[in-house]
Amino acid sequence: MSRFEDVYHAAPEAEASAPGRVNLLGEHTDYNDGFVLPIAIPQQTRVAMRRSGAAHFALHAADLGQTVTFTLAQPPAEQFASYVYGCLVLAQAQSPDVQIAPLEIHVSSDVPIGVGLSSSAALEVATLRCLRQLLALPMDDVQIARIAQRAEIDYAGVRCGIMDQMASSLADTSRALLLDTRTLERRFVPLPPDSRVLVLDSGISRSLAGSAYNQRRAECEQAAKLLGVGSLRDVAQVAQLAALPELLQRRARHVVTENARVLQAVDCTEAGAFGELMNASHASLRDDYEVSTPGLDALVALLQAQPGVFGARLTGAGFGGACVALCRAGAEQEVAVAVLDAYRQAGGTGRQLVPSED
Ligand code: GLA
Repeated sequence: MSRFEDVYHAAPEAEASAPGRVNLLGEHTDYNDGFVLPIAIPQQTRVAMRRSGAAHFALHAADLGQTVTFTLAQPPAEQFASYVYGCLVLAQAQSPDVQIAPLEIHVSSDVPIGVGLSSSAALEVATLRCLRQLLALPMDDVQIARIAQRAEIDYAGVRCGIMDQMASSLADTSRALLLDTRTLERRFVPLPPDSRVLVLDSGISRSLAGSAYNQRRAECEQAAKLLGVGSLRDVAQVAQLAALPELLQRRARHVVTENARVLQAVDCTEAGAFGELMNASHASLRDDYEVSTPGLDALVALLQAQPGVFGARLTGAGFGGACVALCRAGAEQEVAVAVLDAYRQAGGTGRQLVPSED
């Protein structure tokens, strides 16, 4: 894979990286002002930059072997470039005293793309970190997450919450990040004793994820409106949902019970109890929120049936992509091999993502 020097024949002036994330619990709660519990994954996106003095920005994606050029007034057509473009435009708006002049930009990543591990947030956060370093921009890590989220909403068209960008900007791989997405209050929470995170890709592409995601979000907003609350975070009891039409009742029930599961999980002193909450989260995402697929259900069921697994669920927006499991420490590889084998025999094509095999 190319390096900055290979493409631009000079050394970069700034370099930064940011990780992907896997969410352990708290799915589809962030745009309802709720609680989430992600952890960073070891895979990172790296961005390098140099001021070029040219008329256009140049952006090279090493994984694609592709270079795209654009100006701040003239957005690129390529999806991967629009995340970077969005960050540059929004950072410029946030710091009008600094001129963000054309740059040579090099991006490389080992965060799996399109499986629910926040490759786009990693790209946005790494871009903003690199820009902050290059131009000494006054942005803290929370501001970086906020700008990154805005870039995703305005330039990629997904009305996402702030979990992914906060996780990429603030989380690490050794403990989970409990985040209140309303106040952005947060604290690190250790994983239950003797447990490890395992992430498997179902191999199912998330074709519906964007449109159905925006639809779920609209359903939650409608439910909150009918209940007369600012957001579903403000509903404390499932009993309060009785007056809603059936579909909205199920959507809201997922959000209310999922928030409760996150808060219960951070008090779990043993992995078994934490795992039960993950299993319940999957059932709720499948039955009430309807963002699972038969393939994801099959992979999750295989994981849940393994003796070394405390609990498992789909992770991220759903409709395909990855599953996360909490495993007994030391059992991850054995579990991954057994589950992927059975999944393949049933016709699936999965792969292990965390711990990464290389
Ligand atoms: C995507 C979004 C997040 C969050 C999850 C679902 O990853 O980007 O903001 O809503 O889906 O929990």
